[in-house]
Amino acid sequence: MSEEEEEKQRIPLRTPYKMGSFQLSHRIVLAPLTRQRSYNNVPQPHAILYYSQRATQGGFLVAEATGVSDTAHGYPNTPGLWTKEQTDAWKPIVKAVHAKGAVFFCQIWHTGRVSNTGFQSNGQSPISSTDRELTPQLEDNDADTTQFSPPRRLRTDEIPKVVHDFRIAARNAIEAGFDGVEIHGAHGYLIDQFLKDQVNDRTDQYGGSLENRCRFALEVVEAVSDEIGADRVGIRLSPFANYMECGDSNPEALGLYMAEALNKYGILFCHMVEPRMISPGVRVECSQSLFPMRKAFKGTFIVAGGYGREDGNKAVAENRADLVAYGRHFLANPDLPKRFELDAPLNKYKRETFYTPHPVLGYTDYPFLEETDGYIGGN
Ligand SMILES: Cc1cc2nc3c(=O)[nH]c(=O)nc-3n(C[C@H](O)[C@H](O)[C@H](O)COP(=O)(O)O)c2cc1C
Repeated sequence: MSEEEEEKQRIPLRTPYKMGSFQLSHRIVLAPLTRQRSYNNVPQPHAILYYSQRATQGGFLVAEATGVSDTAHGYPNTPGLWTKEQTDAWKPIVKAVHAKGAVFFCQIWHTGRVSNTGFQSNGQSPISSTDRELTPQLEDNDADTTQFSPPRRLRTDEIPKVVHDFRIAARNAIEAGFDGVEIHGAHGYLIDQFLKDQVNDRTDQYGGSLENRCRFALEVVEAVSDEIGADRVGIRLSPFANYMECGDSNPEALGLYMAEALNKYGILFCHMVEPRMISPGVRVECSQSLFPMRKAFKGTFIVAGGYGREDGNKAVAENRADLVAYGRHFLANPDLPKRFELDAPLNKYKRETFYTPHPVLGYTDYPFLEETDGYIGGN
């Protein structure tokens, strides 16, 4: 078969794509996935195998949400990027992913009020755009609840310091060898707590109008772009989601405003979570669409949320996305790009080990296609 014929036969998800200066060989992206196996906020050697299992020549991976400072955490054993020890600990992980020929970005994160005093030094209150407290949430095991402490509303004059923390974390990401960063502006965490009118009740220049609510996010984008170059910066947004009681009265306007405003900074990509993912892990039917934002944003547009092989192919074929990020399927199928190419069955993900601290179980022990047939479940 000639190269041209081969190209024609490729499924849309397996076609090459140039993202800025990065030449990708396919469009199946590893979505950022918190795995809570970074003891004491330090990335661990077992992550070398986990990420390199999912790396392919010309693939694109986004590392799990990584804290930008010692006030950024709200879950146990999530990694950070504010100390030298953390930065150095990422190095062998990044090196292993690069050895496989993949492009690797780190997602940088601040949880804001999705935290409690136990995660904060000296038992301080978590910081947020607001002092409104979150109600306790049922954990993934459906039995325990997570308790949140009342947050402390950031004073206007403290906000530049938090923006600076994102800048330093981005600098450290580059020092660790990452190709760039994805700013976590989704899912009810600190940036989203500024973006959404259900949470942001500020009366200063960071609250009220759409422009004001987006100011913090855009200041972070500007600082990070200034530090490492806009061609190494992406952002993840979920305007339609209401995770962690963080919804907005007009998500279309919010998403569109951000997509247009981001063009000013020339960042590499905008990664948006589908409106159908209104709450974590639950896909609902809905008529809303990311298409207006896709059209408005001038860089690479990545979509995520509830995608399988068929609708991922369709999104690319219909030009509704440049790249498709996969969370749970990639977690459970280290060779997801190959399985999609062959239309092979997928391993089922095991929800009960998503966040357990074990260095192997439910982490690096999902089998590859050739390993065992017995293990392979349905789709
Ligand atoms: C175990 C787990 C951890 C996650 N951690 C993150 C995270 O660190 N950052 C983030 O932006 N999204 C996170 N998500 C959301 C995923 O990136 C993705 O958007 C979501 O799972 C929906 O995509 P999917 O249907 O392909 O799984 C997480 C999801 C799961 C299941």
